[in-house]
Amino acid sequence: MQNKVTKAVFPVAGMGTRFLPATKSIPKEILTLVDRPLIQYAIDEAREAGITEFIFVTSRGKSALEDYFDRAPELEASLKAKNKTDLLEIYNDTCMDSGAIAYVRQNQALGLGHAVWCARHLIGDEPFAVLLPDDVIAAEKPCLKQMIEAYAETGGNMVAAMEVPGDKISSYGVLDVNATSINPAMKVKGMVEKPKAEDAPSNLAAIGRYILSPQVLKNLDGQQTGAGGEIQLTDAIAKEIEQSNNVYGYRFQGQRYDCGSKAGFLQATVAFGLARADLRDELEDYIYDMMAMRQAAQ
Ligand code: G1P
Repeated sequence: MQNKVTKAVFPVAGMGTRFLPATKSIPKEILTLVDRPLIQYAIDEAREAGITEFIFVTSRGKSALEDYFDRAPELEASLKAKNKTDLLEIYNDTCMDSGAIAYVRQNQALGLGHAVWCARHLIGDEPFAVLLPDDVIAAEKPCLKQMIEAYAETGGNMVAAMEVPGDKISSYGVLDVNATSINPAMKVKGMVEKPKAEDAPSNLAAIGRYILSPQVLKNLDGQQTGAGGEIQLTDAIAKEIEQSNNVYGYRFQGQRYDCGSKAGFLQATVAFGLARADLRDELEDYIYDMMAMRQAAQ
């Protein structure tokens, strides 16, 4: 039995320039999918996987994130006075216990590996999870929970994995694996960050959920830069393989949305809207009408 994973790192220091102008004054992670900010999907997934300590790696201009997870006494008093129990329940879900979330600053944008490394003193010498809030995964059993269960058997390090089309592979960390097996946890032989399509070892991409050994943080101590001149998490995980430690790619069950892109964000908005009993009918009718109008116009 491996150590229990109770800590998770959420790298949220990025400027979110792809979502300008909205991100001029709002952190990207506060942009909402239906009615919940992006970050809440990642936090809820982590909670459901048994995470109890949440470490946010932030930067300037991210205070809205801190406020979001805090109590809001005026709002709370007003909801109570009006006896809005359903809204109070929603509100309570966003309030994290004192001390459950810790914030560390990444004071220079040096890459994902560097962001995770900034949390090293809070992680200490135990395995930890990393969740990239841009990757939203709709699944019956939350993706990180699937991975934690598999990790209890394998130990080592584990990276969520998914096949992506060849023309998209150069946007990802890519896994080199032996012939694909039916087992969802596949031993990884190598990992490369954002390779050219022709150099990619496979079309199996790393997706933003990781369970990592504390050794990965030590591998980041050297602050070596990689793809794009940034300090890459992928390189620090690849070092684990060089040091003969196990890394597994985990082919999760679920639908992943790339909410770091506008198209992905819109797709997720539609999918999550359609999944909601209170919105489904109206939204579905609208989509049918719109498609019919488009077809008629062609
Ligand atoms: C990051 C990681 C990459 C991974 C991707 C998943 O890239 O560096 O290895 O495949 O997330 O979304 P980014 O999207 O931050 O460029």
